[in-house]
Amino acid sequence: MLKNKIHIFSEPEETAESVAKLITAMLNEKVSAGKSLNIAISGGSTPNLLFGMLSGEYAEKINWEKIRFFWVDERCVEPTDKESNYGNVNKILLQHVPIPEANIFRMKGENVPIEEAVQYQNTLRNELPEVNGMPQFDLVLLGMGDDGHTASIFPGNLELLHSTESVAAAKHPQTGQNRITLTGSVICNAKHVAFVITGHSKAEVLESIMHEKGDFERFPTYYILTGCGDVELYLDHEAAERL
Ligand code: 6PG
Repeated sequence: MLKNKIHIFSEPEETAESVAKLITAMLNEKVSAGKSLNIAISGGSTPNLLFGMLSGEYAEKINWEKIRFFWVDERCVEPTDKESNYGNVNKILLQHVPIPEANIFRMKGENVPIEEAVQYQNTLRNELPEVNGMPQFDLVLLGMGDDGHTASIFPGNLELLHSTESVAAAKHPQTGQNRITLTGSVICNAKHVAFVITGHSKAEVLESIMHEKGDFERFPTYYILTGCGDVELYLDHEAAERL
């Protein structure tokens, strides 16, 4: 079994709450050092519970002036499109809390993918500290697809794990949808990486990855878990049922 620290909760809500607590604790630590928390968030549906908590019971616990949101990946659609990761977070969280516009660094999915990848790479260079020659996030929150992808790094696209760039253009292998994504290089350069994975549909791939069985070497998530130092998993019991 891989040696990553695993937190398992009975319900997705408890899993989300534990991540809200992690974010709050990391933020408070940064604020007491007179700094801001630089966090990269993933899309998909899993984080919606977390975003709802941050705009609800946690809204008063967070110093919104000192948290800076970046994106792990974005679909190449308008920000108002229902597919937009930014649009989703804006609807659930950003428009409900007093976070300064200047603290929101969205990937512009409406731009030409390769051009936006270059633009966003420049944004990271300008807005984040550089460590090991790469921008460094304080925290990267990742999800995992039931095909073992993470960010928009899909099976068959493993070269994005070790790119010399921090941001790349990618394409969803089934839908062909253009994506912009952080690469494995900048994800692994973060101080802390946390996977948030819930639901029965993830259990089989997670078993393959954590026990290094079957097709585990096809799955980008495997490489983040084994190649990036301090990577934790926050799971509900359904996602963890085969571990
Ligand atoms: C995206 C995400 C992606 C997501 C996984 C899990 O843009 O879709 O960044 O990597 O984290 O696909 O998605 P769910 O949380 O919807 O299962």
